Amino acid sequence: MSLSVEIGDITRVEADAVVNAANSLLLGGGGVDGAIHAAAGPRLLEACRRLRNTTHRDGLTVGDAVATPAFDLPASWVIHTVGPNLHRGQDDPALLASCFARSLDVAAELDVRSIAFPAVSAGAYGWPVPDVARIAVVTTRNWLAEHSEAELRDVRFVVVDERVEHAFGTALTT
Ligand code: AR6
Repeated sequence: MSLSVEIGDITRVEADAVVNAANSLLLGGGGVDGAIHAAAGPRLLEACRRLRNTTHRDGLTVGDAVATPAFDLPASWVIHTVGPNLHRGQDDPALLASCFARSLDVAAELDVRSIAFPAVSAGAYGWPVPDVARIAVVTTRNWLAEHSEAELRDVRFVVVDERVEHAFGTALTT
């Protein structure tokens, strides 16, 4: 079982699944979301629209996750999750923990062996990077301990710069 952090562009990662820090509308946006939609191509937006017209008419709830194919990405799946937005007073750590746990649940349902996470909520949604890193690592460790039957072998946190890498590195070594 491998849990690691690296600096990089999550759209270029060769993992079975990459997680998208989306919003409830599921129709794209800035940050990771914009980059993933741009790199995956227009079929990703079509797949998201299909979700909105079928299973997710009211959008995706904060803390929940749902998968689509990854189309033009190297990955097979995009697992979309919606982090809590601190700027809207969404400051409950359980909501952010749920993003990681639910994404892992969805990955397990797809028999995913490797998954890459961005620092969900650490950009436009305003959460402090050290808090995101700690919650991401603790939640993932707990999930893996509780799901020893899962195929998941490789969890990577793919982050933009050394500051975020350092925060995840600290969380991974404490
Ligand atoms: N690869 C890896 N990390 C990235 C990349 C990338 N290509 N691009 C940005 N980051 P954010 P949020 C980092 O804002 O805070 C969108 O508009 C970024 O530097 O993408 O959950 C959505 O549509 C930061 O550290 O996600 C929502 O409306 C981290 O990824 C809203 O933003 C997360 O930043 C979601 O905000």
